Amino acid sequence: MPSVEPLLMLAGPVKIDARVIQAMSRPSLGHRTRHFTAALREIRELLQYAFDTRGPVGLLSGSGTAGIESMLAGLLRTEDRVLCLTNGKFGERVFEVAARYAQAQQLDIPWGRPVNPEATREALEEGDYDVLALCHNETSTGLTNPAEELGRLAQEAGLLYLVDGITSVGGLPVDMEAWGIDGLVLGSQKCLAAPAGLSAVALSDRGYERLHEENAYYLNLKAHVDHLEAGSTPYTPAIHLVLGFREALRLLREEGLLARIARTAKLGAASRAAADAIGLPLLPDRAFASNTVSAFSYPDRVDETLRERLREEHGVLVAGGQGRLKGGIFRIGHMGVCSFADLRATFRALEAVLADLGHPFEPGAGVEVIDGSHDEAD
Ligand SMILES: Cc1ncc(COP(=O)(O)O)c(C=O)c1O
Repeated sequence: MPSVEPLLMLAGPVKIDARVIQAMSRPSLGHRTRHFTAALREIRELLQYAFDTRGPVGLLSGSGTAGIESMLAGLLRTEDRVLCLTNGKFGERVFEVAARYAQAQQLDIPWGRPVNPEATREALEEGDYDVLALCHNETSTGLTNPAEELGRLAQEAGLLYLVDGITSVGGLPVDMEAWGIDGLVLGSQKCLAAPAGLSAVALSDRGYERLHEENAYYLNLKAHVDHLEAGSTPYTPAIHLVLGFREALRLLREEGLLARIARTAKLGAASRAAADAIGLPLLPDRAFASNTVSAFSYPDRVDETLRERLREEHGVLVAGGQGRLKGGIFRIGHMGVCSFADLRATFRALEAVLADLGHPFEPGAGVEVIDGSHDEAD
């Protein structure tokens, strides 16, 4: 095992910039202090920037799933009928959480295929739904669902539209207002490249007005949104993570949201093209392949040994499959502050292990594609 820090090319947590680590390396401080209030006020503004909204936002100490649960607990009522569009593990999770709080139904789509707007329209016509719920970027299959088109359907039917944006916000285009999104969740350890352990929720004005406080105590979203607006938190937050999160958000603003999205798109395209060049089969429907995470099926002669050897021999961590895809695929995360040098190092290591496992390809072909896919500035 190399002695240097491993290169995190997971689908989250992802690599963290040294400035973020530095921001957390400080003595303890109280959360009811002027210093921390100033940090929270800055975070609120920066979160609005990341979500590309002027509307209400809340910050939670708890991973992405806490954000999802807080949104659903705050917006769903027992009698609400929710249509959950599921084509992967995280869409299923949205359904499982929604089912705790309301009458949830699944529109089950094969994993690796996008949610089909026509099938969604038909399902909406058949049932008397109040809410449409979607996982925008399905991390488990490396697929981006057509959230804009689906939002149009929700708008036409007058439904509340709730979206898991955990691996899309800050890495893929998301337009809450134009797409009619009422609730949108992000996770700190994904496109924002902050440490794991925080999540945030953005709401439309209609979403905020609909919030109720009966279902949740610690995850009461209204309390978190109202407190953040006042520069505070309802309970003791994960103070050091919050400071790291602020620095990660500052980095996003310095790079620019659109620039980061464009860079992530280039990384996604380079990852797919390099994989094509060395004969790695892309898992999802290519037209819907995600730019934040690439999922590949294992070709003949290759199995989970690949990930193990990447980790042990090259210090490169890539993600495996989840749920029904466990053992059959691997995934490369290329979001946040991931660079072309990181992607190149990953493909270099991949090529070395694949060659050793007897996978047939032209050595160097993947790395060459990556080298030709960007310029110095990237
Ligand atoms: C799309 C999506 N939703 C939800 C989650 C769950 O987030 P967490 O593990 O931070 O609770 C993840 C994590 O990978 C994800 O990618």
